[in-house]
Amino acid sequence: MSRATTRPGRPLRGEASPPGDKSITQRAILLGALASGRTRIRGGNPGGDARAALGLVRALGVPARVAPGEWVLRGGSLRESDRILDARNSGTTLRLAVGLLAAQPFLSVLTGDASLRRRPVDRVLDPLRRLGADVAARSGGRLPPVVVQGTRLRGAEVATGIASAQVKSALLLAALQAEGETTVEEPAATRDHTERMLPLFGAPVPREGRRIRVTGPAALRGAEIDVPGDPSAAAFLLAAAALVPRSDILVRDVATNPTRAAFFERAAAMGARIERSDERERCGEPVATLRFRSGDRLRPLSVLPEETPGLIDELPLLAVLAAFAPGESRIAGAGELRVKESDRIAAVTAGLRAIGAEVEEQEDGWIIAGRASLPGGTVDSRGDHRIAMAFLVAGLRARNGVTVLGAESVAISDPDFLPRLRRLAR
Ligand code: S3P
Repeated sequence: MSRATTRPGRPLRGEASPPGDKSITQRAILLGALASGRTRIRGGNPGGDARAALGLVRALGVPARVAPGEWVLRGGSLRESDRILDARNSGTTLRLAVGLLAAQPFLSVLTGDASLRRRPVDRVLDPLRRLGADVAARSGGRLPPVVVQGTRLRGAEVATGIASAQVKSALLLAALQAEGETTVEEPAATRDHTERMLPLFGAPVPREGRRIRVTGPAALRGAEIDVPGDPSAAAFLLAAAALVPRSDILVRDVATNPTRAAFFERAAAMGARIERSDERERCGEPVATLRFRSGDRLRPLSVLPEETPGLIDELPLLAVLAAFAPGESRIAGAGELRVKESDRIAAVTAGLRAIGAEVEEQEDGWIIAGRASLPGGTVDSRGDHRIAMAFLVAGLRARNGVTVLGAESVAISDPDFLPRLRRLAR
């Protein structure tokens, strides 16, 4: 297990490019596998999760040519794999692939690493059965491995019952291949990259409020996808700028999709300074250049349950920021964090205590007593990339720095994370 240490140092200054958005990249790969003809993906996320998605579609017979910055897939004729499909650490790959394969006329077995095999899949399998899917999983249908016997699906009205973009997207992938009309209703708005990308593949899916309508079977054609920068990766740069005095970072081409951008607003409300310029659209997604600067001092925050879907991947980082914001912060309604790459509620509690912060763990969040200065210490990332990166950012401010165990996990979403931070601090 590799360890990495960050320490207070110079202000972070200069320009930085975040990696391509991980969620958008994985969707482009899976839709590209389904669509007939050539799909070209530029600027895809270089991390382990996107590689897992590529490996999975290759195992299903999709030729994929991978050159730096540009991947070309030839989709449209998936075939049964003689291997178990391995989504590795990627929940998005596994869950979306189940939706994709539910209508393919062959058997698939899908699994992942030890972390993924502990994460629930019933949330995807149960609603897919409403379309007629023949799916099963270990532990009474709850956990991977998953077995999918592809079959003919028929449209249905489905309410997801859980605010999850992965569940919604798995249903959309299945519904595109089903006979007739499907409506998918989500209880709260979640990231909408699948809906925004489908028109590029020739299959628009109209939305009415929280309901999305799909008419199947839809004939998808290959597309050209230019992946914008990942706002979840940019969030770490904003947090670093907020914590290190006199920092000033310019980040170009960041996706500012409203279903992903709540962190920027919350960090600004806490006292970070953020400016947007050059706002435009790329592949159906709003993008902008963002300038991040440190403010005077951080203010505590309060996150309500209804706000968590738009902040879900950034909540560990918000908790770290809150630990350096004098006063009491509360984050509630974040129980979903217990079934991410690690139990992120427990991982953040342990990490904050290890760096000297005062935190009370709740079933669905934290109460944090923030202080302007913390000593630092050694934090176990639990193999979770977002935990590793959140505490590596904390090390830029904690008096004695922070050592993160299992720091290699950052490569799941952002292999250039540490070199980029170091370049900015030179
Ligand atoms: C993702 C959706 C979210 C998020 C994950 C990526 C996606 O998960 O946490 O990192 O790409 O759809 P849920 O849909 O389970 O909330």
